[in-house]
Amino acid sequence: MAESTALPAEPTTALAIETRKLNLWYGTFQALFDVDLEIKQGIITSLIGPSGCGKSTFLRSVNRINERLGYVRTTGSIEVLGFDVYAENVEPVQVRKQVGMVFQRPNPLPLSIRDNVLFGYRTHQERGKRLSRSAADEIVESSLRQVLLWDQVKDRLDRPAVGLALEEQQKLCIARLLPVKPSVLLMDEPCSALDPKGTEAVEELIWELRGQYTILIVTHNMAQASRASDECIFMLLGKVIEHSQTAEMFVTPKCQETADYIEGRYG
Ligand SMILES: Nc1ncnc2c1ncn2[C@@H]1O[C@H](COP(=O)(O)OP(=O)(O)O)[C@@H](O)[C@H]1O
Ligand SMILES: [Mg+2]
Repeated sequence: MAESTALPAEPTTALAIETRKLNLWYGTFQALFDVDLEIKQGIITSLIGPSGCGKSTFLRSVNRINERLGYVRTTGSIEVLGFDVYAENVEPVQVRKQVGMVFQRPNPLPLSIRDNVLFGYRTHQERGKRLSRSAADEIVESSLRQVLLWDQVKDRLDRPAVGLALEEQQKLCIARLLPVKPSVLLMDEPCSALDPKGTEAVEELIWELRGQYTILIVTHNMAQASRASDECIFMLLGKVIEHSQTAEMFVTPKCQETADYIEGRYG
């Protein structure tokens, strides 16, 4: 990891996610305030801030899972690769094809390792189309290879996924997003349930995926944010306080609130 993190981010101007004046309320409680963000394609952006500042809320707005709750109201706009994800003719399922999400606790389905990898693909497959055995095998192998899990599990693909170690389960949860070919991966504290060794393994994987996917990762771990991201966003009480190159933010933060948080002066 150490040497790959030293590489400078590819210069990129294309935007993966762009929000304008995004406000969100849970009932009468406002959780996001005028969030204007431009998240670049192909790099890793970390999202940091104290508990309750709206990090998960922001992620869940991008792939439209907040709206499952009947009492959420959103104003403003979110574009993913230039498409307004809240436009009238857009179905949430189309959005989730473009935008995959990984949660704090690995949540494999109660199926085999193989069927976990194929699940999303089958869900998004055109009606009536059947996947041949060899095409399915290829998808399973290439997805598991991409998450650095193939060698460990190739001889037990038909075993239940829940029997894997936690870090392997989390890698599997990333693997099952890939066959759908998302452009953006949202990760909400993906290492928080893992031990230090598991954290390192998953971080290494996230770094491997850099460039192929746009990754937006929430973390409470300042060391992880500073090691494993190109850009960093700091949020406080539902507002974006600062968005900078990670190296810059951790050395010379622009705002006092950012400095206080990074130095551990609050939450
Ligand atoms: N489903 C919900 N219903 C009502 N309030 C919520 C819900 N989810 C989060 N909140 C509130 O919104 C704020 C932001 O929460 P969240 O996005 O989970 O923060 P973070 O991920 O930064 O810890 C918090 O005050 C939290 O209590
Ligand atoms: Mg959260």
